Amino acid sequence: MGEMEDFIPVLEVKELKDGSMKLVSVEGTPVLLIKQAGKIFAIDNRCPHQGCGFSGGTLDGLVIVCPCHEWRFNLVTGEYEEEPAMKLTKFELKIKAGKIWVRLEE
Ligand code: FES
Repeated sequence: MGEMEDFIPVLEVKELKDGSMKLVSVEGTPVLLIKQAGKIFAIDNRCPHQGCGFSGGTLDGLVIVCPCHEWRFNLVTGEYEEEPAMKLTKFELKIKAGKIWVRLEE
């Protein structure tokens, strides 16, 4: 099948403006797409603390702040600032044919 195996198209690249987020559902999993500083990230919308939706939170540079208890997670590493062993779930993504493609399993 090649390099796109298991990747699912989830959004047109042009629909995601820099500095914004978009929540999509991929086979029942809530995936939050984020574009910040020209980079695109795909994370599980459920915060690893108590499951709140990151989509209601805010971006602070390359950090996403959970709306429930304001825990700060680095989008590049996935790490919670206060306790790096606790990470949000990131998904692998690719850009192809003008679309963002996500692979759910890690
Ligand atoms: S649920 Fe996200 S910080 Fe508590």
